[in-house]
Amino acid sequence: MSDLILGVSAFYHDSAAALVADGVPVAAAQEERFTRRRHDPSFPSRAVAYCLDEQGVSLDDISAVAYYEDPRLKFRRLLATFAGAAPTGFTSFRDTLPAWLGRSGKLRTDATVRAELAALGRGRVPELSVRRHHESHAVSAFFPSPYESAAVLCIDGVGEWATTTLWHGRGTDLRPVSELRFPHSLGLLYSAFTYFCGFKVDSGEYKLMGLAPYGKPRYARLIREELIDLKPDGSFRLNMRYFEYLRGQVMTGRGFEKLFGGPRRTSESPLTEREFDLASSVQAVTEEAVLRLARTARERTGESRLCMAGGVALNCVANGKVIDAGIFDEVWVQPAAGDAGGALGAAQAVAAERGARRDHVRTGHDAMSGSLLGPAYGDDEIAAYLDARSIPYRRLDGDTLAAQVADGLARGKIVGWFQGRMEFGPRALGARSIIGDPRNPDMQSAMNLKIKFRESFRPFAPAVLAEDAKDYFDLPQESPYMLVVSQVAAAQRLEAQGGGASGLDLLKVRRSTIPAVTHVDHSARVQTVTDRENPAYHRLLTAFKSLTGCPVLVNTSFNVRGEPIVNSPQEAYTCFMRTDIDMLALGNFLLEKGDQPVWAEESDWRDEIPLD
Ligand SMILES: [Fe+2]
Repeated sequence: MSDLILGVSAFYHDSAAALVADGVPVAAAQEERFTRRRHDPSFPSRAVAYCLDEQGVSLDDISAVAYYEDPRLKFRRLLATFAGAAPTGFTSFRDTLPAWLGRSGKLRTDATVRAELAALGRGRVPELSVRRHHESHAVSAFFPSPYESAAVLCIDGVGEWATTTLWHGRGTDLRPVSELRFPHSLGLLYSAFTYFCGFKVDSGEYKLMGLAPYGKPRYARLIREELIDLKPDGSFRLNMRYFEYLRGQVMTGRGFEKLFGGPRRTSESPLTEREFDLASSVQAVTEEAVLRLARTARERTGESRLCMAGGVALNCVANGKVIDAGIFDEVWVQPAAGDAGGALGAAQAVAAERGARRDHVRTGHDAMSGSLLGPAYGDDEIAAYLDARSIPYRRLDGDTLAAQVADGLARGKIVGWFQGRMEFGPRALGARSIIGDPRNPDMQSAMNLKIKFRESFRPFAPAVLAEDAKDYFDLPQESPYMLVVSQVAAAQRLEAQGGGASGLDLLKVRRSTIPAVTHVDHSARVQTVTDRENPAYHRLLTAFKSLTGCPVLVNTSFNVRGEPIVNSPQEAYTCFMRTDIDMLALGNFLLEKGDQPVWAEESDWRDEIPLD
């Protein structure tokens, strides 16, 4: 039997569990998908139970449990931080302490993890191995990557102390090269601007990145002069005078307000030129820092390939710049680059110590199985759900389903696409996706406003047949996890219309043959789809191409704003009925909105889902 290691990340943001067999990921999921609480930080009981069930094992079959960070070190960092800021941070200190102390405080996380595992009632609790936060990120970036050797760069907010780390991976060996420490953090710099622009820290960063192309980087110099001292090698120091996170529970205060002309934007209020320009500016500074760090990584390791993880590695625009700069021959980013992926890295760190090999490297492919590591629902389960509720459907074979969905898409229909195992990580990659025709100029606003109920400025991502990607995007390598932004190819661009438009009016300008996925700066957050990793999605793209000539679809996650991505057929059906999605493909079952019985709920569901 394989050597099974269970990894857990919990108690901060986006808890998750991952199971590896001889070092290979076989199951992984975020707790939010089961509890339906976005970014759920609680112990991932249900994700752990899923991982065990998926492999048909109990805790008795697990060799060790790996926890993704060291709570004692983290607490020491908090103590040192508060001591350094005293007496100004006392209130914040007093408010933070209870969460750490006491019987089930974070300081006793190892005991809590053991107790939570025991409470599952699934066998004896295995030995627990506590890893470091950045080690977990680094292993998750390198171990499953397709490279025999590589430079590994991890950039995030903060774990224990480290905020940016460089590693050198060779075979199964991963060694630290250098690190930058708290409070100097690129992730926290970006989060400070996220907060100042009125978005939520730890989830709104993605919105800020999407906002950046609407603005001009007119504050970039000011940021470089006042906020961050960025050295030629990519190392940096923040000017802590401007940041409040050492002293209190907020990111920015008066210093920021003075520097950027007034108070922070309140959430949901109208966006102004200032927010566009702030987003553009902090994005430009971040890209410059990441580029410098990448160059240093190349010099210090001599490697021609780069692996990345950590929250900042979800900044697919910066990743695209690194690839375009040609610093490395190839770049691979862990699809669960945020802290959820720490569960996987921690498990693989233990597996590596226990002798796991990286045999997948010989295949030239990564070991993530397309990041499709979550629960799947068989046709029998789906039929049982539909039949029990007398929900009308047609059952089709895979080819017919793809052809009929493609036909609907070409007629302007929006489709819920629920197939196979759910994605691990924040992006929907064609297993739990809402899809549409990217040639349709109205699709972007229809999907934002009538399907997702979210802000109109937010861009959508294209999924493209890997074999046709070059005809549509200037992408020098594959991007299976939608973590690389590239430019739409010149051949697909249209003569600029609507010259002189600015701000959100830029949205109305048609820029390419695939306007629904072309951002205002001609960029696109591409996912390349292969038959090997996602055959059903590949079949659909192929059917759409043979019907329309276009090998691209608009892809967005299957959820509404503020809700985690759907996991089960029931959640998919509910989302289908609550929104203007026209067709739902649940495995081999095709449902049309027009055939469905009237959908009624006692209260307005939108009141129950908190905004993100
Ligand atoms: Fe992290």
